[in-house]
Amino acid sequence: MANRGHFSSKFGFIAAAAGSAVGLGNIWKFPFEVGQGGGALFLIIYLIFCFVLCYPILITEISIGRKSEKSAAVAFDQLGYKKWTFLGKLGVLCGVMILSFYNVVAGWVFGYFVEIVKGNFDIGNEFGAFTTNIWRTGIYSIAFLVFTTIIVSQGITKGIEKASKILMPVLIGIILLLVFYAFTLPNSGAGVEYYLVPDFSKLSLQVVYKALGQSFFSLSLGLGALITYGSYLERHENIVFSGALITLADVGIAFLAGLMIFPFVFYQGIDPEGGAALIFQTMPGIFESMGSFWGIFIGGLFFLLLSFAALTSTISLLELPVAYFVDQKKWKRKRAVWVSGLIIFLLGVPSLLGNGYSAFFTEFITYFGTDSPRDYMTFIGDVFIDTLLPLGGFLTAIFAIHVWKKGNLVSELSDGADNFAGSWLNTYIIFSLKYIAPVILGAIFIFTVLEKFFSISIL
Ligand code: TRP
Repeated sequence: MANRGHFSSKFGFIAAAAGSAVGLGNIWKFPFEVGQGGGALFLIIYLIFCFVLCYPILITEISIGRKSEKSAAVAFDQLGYKKWTFLGKLGVLCGVMILSFYNVVAGWVFGYFVEIVKGNFDIGNEFGAFTTNIWRTGIYSIAFLVFTTIIVSQGITKGIEKASKILMPVLIGIILLLVFYAFTLPNSGAGVEYYLVPDFSKLSLQVVYKALGQSFFSLSLGLGALITYGSYLERHENIVFSGALITLADVGIAFLAGLMIFPFVFYQGIDPEGGAALIFQTMPGIFESMGSFWGIFIGGLFFLLLSFAALTSTISLLELPVAYFVDQKKWKRKRAVWVSGLIIFLLGVPSLLGNGYSAFFTEFITYFGTDSPRDYMTFIGDVFIDTLLPLGGFLTAIFAIHVWKKGNLVSELSDGADNFAGSWLNTYIIFSLKYIAPVILGAIFIFTVLEKFFSISIL
């Protein structure tokens, strides 16, 4: 316990964990996944996964962390299950790989902040040229990583809590404002309809597994990030309640982001299937329509706050390898932070190059039986987000029920939640972990790996 920081208050923990959850995943990735997944149908499947599967796994991760008082890589060992340390280590690896590209996108967001503040609203039409200018985007992304490293090297309470507490409410405020603005624009109804009225003919395995990956990614699940955060949580805090708030905040913000984007997309006649470019193509034109003063003010604030939201997420991702080096290898925190940062930067270079600059990384891989090559970043997302995060969730559920045993889980969850044991929520959470998680996650994992990477369709 000696060197471990603790969150100074319950709100500090919720703010930090929600800060980890809310990020580019909600405002950049979620809308474009909805766009590529056919609109409302994707939204519905995503919501079901968040509440039915992810919430139980989320509070399980936090419980494992608080019980063991150790980060992901060491927690399982600490609880007495040495064989399961592979799961924590897999999480650290995924965290490193995810952060390597996440940081590049965060650099774009920061770059857009700079362009909007300069009054360059045309940047919306120049996304391709922007990402191929790798010296500029490279510098933004290095700057971003350096920010993250500085905050993480200062330790948990000082850095993370303060940043999250102030900025999250402001971000929600500005998104709400933009939602209202969106509703005043012509053709906004078409966007709302696209987002909220499902077209069931679009149902496919692809949509289901993308929604699954998105729900895990958005809630920061599946790789033990919340084990690590849970390890900094005081006993007697109510995990069940905090977890519900975190889930609601995260899902709520993603939902609002969609409600904001699609009217903007339809108003401007932009293709909703535009992929990773979607918010970058959509938002500048909207800010331009507000006139130059308000456009620069609101637009600048939007991209700045989005950068901060990304920062509270990169902090939690960097914390994974750092806590591993500190807890497992007994490194000093500073050294762990800077070494991790350097590795992550190097691993991120292909993502930087793979958005048009280098043909090799832009057409990085063609899966067996398909004919269109994927860029490096998409490939990393396919493997580390869509495939390995749900697998991590699957294994976490198996671990909690069959290895750690549900009695231990329930007693940890009850510490701070007096009426939890024996309640309907208790029954529902155990049911989800015991039956829904293994069956649904297991089946989707197998079908997806076969279909996606080998073109073998069973369904
Ligand atoms: N949830 C964050 C987002 O939506 C990304 C993230 C942060 C994450 N930490 C994580 C994803 C841990 C998976 C695991 O932007």
